[in-house]
Amino acid sequence: MTPSVDCILVDLGAGRVCPVVLGTGQGAALTRSRWQAGWRDAVIVGDQTVLALHGAPLAEALAGVAARVHLLPFPPGEHHKTRATKEHVEDQMLAAGVGRATCVVGLGGGISLDVAGFVAATYMRGVPWVAVPTSLLGQVDASVGGKTGVNTDHGKNLVGAFHQPAAVVVDRAYLATLPAEEWLNGWGEVVKHAVVGDREMFQALERGASRLAVPGEMDDEILRRAVATKVAVVQEDERECGLREVLNFGHTVGHALEAATGYRVSHGRAVGVGMVVESLAATSLCGFPREEWLRLRALLATLGVTSPDLFRTPFDRLVEPMLRDKKRRGDAVRVAIPRALGHMARQGDSHSHAVGLDVLRACWEEAACSA
Ligand SMILES: NC(=O)c1ccc[n+]([C@@H]2O[C@H](COP(=O)([O-])OP(=O)(O)OC[C@H]3O[C@@H](n4cnc5c(N)ncnc54)[C@H](O)[C@@H]3O)[C@@H](O)[C@H]2O)c1
Ligand SMILES: [Zn+2]
Repeated sequence: MTPSVDCILVDLGAGRVCPVVLGTGQGAALTRSRWQAGWRDAVIVGDQTVLALHGAPLAEALAGVAARVHLLPFPPGEHHKTRATKEHVEDQMLAAGVGRATCVVGLGGGISLDVAGFVAATYMRGVPWVAVPTSLLGQVDASVGGKTGVNTDHGKNLVGAFHQPAAVVVDRAYLATLPAEEWLNGWGEVVKHAVVGDREMFQALERGASRLAVPGEMDDEILRRAVATKVAVVQEDERECGLREVLNFGHTVGHALEAATGYRVSHGRAVGVGMVVESLAATSLCGFPREEWLRLRALLATLGVTSPDLFRTPFDRLVEPMLRDKKRRGDAVRVAIPRALGHMARQGDSHSHAVGLDVLRACWEEAACSA
């Protein structure tokens, strides 16, 4: 049986298009088929874990089209998403005599892609890159949109560049080796995409929730729809001038919970909690139906993204990180909230709402009691 291949085109305007190719069990072949005349060397950049698991087949496939293939692994983890790692990768490329006619291939989760894309953005003033995401979060979120960068001691993602990949290759088969906790991380963002822009996908998630809660289970259609939502938003707002703000749904409270727990709660699960709390605020702020709030809360719990223990942190511990957040306005913070499942609310020209900390505190406490 020939595996099916699907392609979503990201139209970035001015004739710029980025194909997002979706297929199952053929990531290496698809990456090779996207090779362009004029690219000489391939440099595969990703963390050691992913390159050990999936680097060789990709290198082998690219050897059929590239003059030389280099595998450049770096240590995994957020604390290695740094300028030092970028510099190390660049130095290895320079030492190997990698020139301008090169395509950087980012293979891995969001960290690998952010580093690979940023290397490509500045190497010899910019070379093309292809994103091959292997984590669920990477596939539905980090690979699309062209944001690349690294962390600094002053905060996450503070140094980087917009650099669109020449193509994104989404292969569900890579997910087979993904650890269980990383699935939950991705599910948080998948559910967010359904709430932000795809009511039908939300219903499909509800129908399949108990099956999908088993790590390793994923539907092609759900994966495609989750990617398509991100594509639709990025297409409208490549440089984060407005609409892209809707993707922050769940992230104001989510980021605060991550910080308050010393990052012991993973990003996707913290965003899950954030969505429960922020959408509860939406019931009074913009008429988000309470019945839909109950459905969102139930879906996140069934998928295992949220659990009662995640709500045990006292709200007071979230206040300081929230007030440090750049989305702060006086004693209020800005949140992107839904008016219905699949539709985000607007306030005038803005895609976010100012919410008083007292409102968020009441919502946190109600959500914690009923979790
Ligand atoms: N550029 C963007 O638009 C964007 C968007 C969202 C998130 N991000 C960034 O993405 C990062 C988070 O991404 P992530 O959650 O994918 O983290 P990650 O890259 O660290 O991957 C998570 C873990 O899973 C492992 N892994 C990945 N794929 C695997 C596979 N198929 N099999 C086995 N192990 C695998 C990795 O080695 C790592 O240990 C953050 O740094 C965040 O800032 C960027
Ligand atoms: Zn996120």
